[in-house]
Amino acid sequence: MKHGLIPAGCLLMAVGGLSPAAAADLTISCGAVGAELQLCQDGVARWEAETGHSVEVVSTPNSATERLSLYQQILNSRSGDIDVFQIDVVWPGMLAPHLVDLRQHLPDGATDGFFDAIVDNNTIDGQLVAMPWFTDAGVLYYRKDLLDKYGLELPTTWAGLTEVAQTVQAGEREAGHSDFWGYVFQGRAYEGLTVNALEWIASYPEGGTIVDDDGEITVNNPQAVEALSLAAGWIEAISPRGVLNYTEEEARGVFQSGNALFMRNWPYAWDLVQSEQSSIRDRVEVAPLPTGGEDGQSAGVLGGWNLAVSRYSEDPEMAADLVAFLTSADEQKRRAIEGAYNPTMPALYQDDEVLAAVPFFGTLYETFTSAVPRPSAVTGDNYPRVSNAFFNTVHEVLSGNAAADQGLESLQSELERIKRRRW
Ligand code: GLC
Repeated sequence: MKHGLIPAGCLLMAVGGLSPAAAADLTISCGAVGAELQLCQDGVARWEAETGHSVEVVSTPNSATERLSLYQQILNSRSGDIDVFQIDVVWPGMLAPHLVDLRQHLPDGATDGFFDAIVDNNTIDGQLVAMPWFTDAGVLYYRKDLLDKYGLELPTTWAGLTEVAQTVQAGEREAGHSDFWGYVFQGRAYEGLTVNALEWIASYPEGGTIVDDDGEITVNNPQAVEALSLAAGWIEAISPRGVLNYTEEEARGVFQSGNALFMRNWPYAWDLVQSEQSSIRDRVEVAPLPTGGEDGQSAGVLGGWNLAVSRYSEDPEMAADLVAFLTSADEQKRRAIEGAYNPTMPALYQDDEVLAAVPFFGTLYETFTSAVPRPSAVTGDNYPRVSNAFFNTVHEVLSGNAAADQGLESLQSELERIKRRRW
């Protein structure tokens, strides 16, 4: 199991009072994907300097699935050792009982200027349980220099991507680049695979979103079979078998070392592939994800993270103040420029300095504002079960252990069983 800087077990010990965390005024949990932890620490340090308070920053596992189970252990035990949680856009409904209503602690108008859709997503039974910190949508990274070298256009469909990947991979290998691959993505059995596979399926006409807005299970359909069959064909053809164990960072590692033509990832990877240490700096461009056929639509899935205050915090007022500071326009602008984290405020997408640092925040604005949500609102507390069932099925299909049609058939029965329990 690959984690962030502190393995889950150690974090539990840390929050159990065995670390210096106990001495700080507040503790915040932050992600550690790419430069994420550093950016969090820098923001926290600014708040400390301004207020004189002290904050312990604890890092969490990179896999959103592992991060959720860690949070659930902490919150279910009603531990107040973490005051501020960085929570995924698909978790507010599920975690709401453990989180304070931030409207009780923040000034009126605290959510003015934020994307309404994210504020709505974070409002459960009238309570604002998290402030939007950064948003996310899946995008396609590609090596412009290599497309030019082979005289190829950027493909707009998944079938086109498959073909172009084959051509360039074959050419590069012939030229002696033996570990070169056409396409890398997130194929481990975790939340990231739910995202990737939903992007494939939702990009086909009538492919759907696993469960629709009315709670109907839609995933067992011919377009989904087509999408998963195509993806299963990528393994060992244009994607290394190891992709079945990749999260975001493993995919980035391969792409950034110059060993892949295409990569599916989130915007954060931009800052790193463009960094001075990157061997592919200035040879990369970013585009919307391909469509499922000519009649399909690009379907980058909505991601993103929010800051929430635990109900078990001893000082929710101070914790809410830290949240307000970290989600302020100023901090969001800094994070956009230094780390390519998507702001949750429309105005920052028109800021010249932000656009100079991350040009595709302007050119792909629509990809971010019309990103496809996962079915977390409609499935509520059952979302992790639905997502686990889905990514496990997809993983079996990609691994060659099940055909796409059989896999989706049994997934449907499993989802029906979950649905009968509630949602
Ligand atoms: C990114 C997204 C998050 C998603 C996760 C899956 O962190 O922002 O919403 O759940 O990736 O790996």
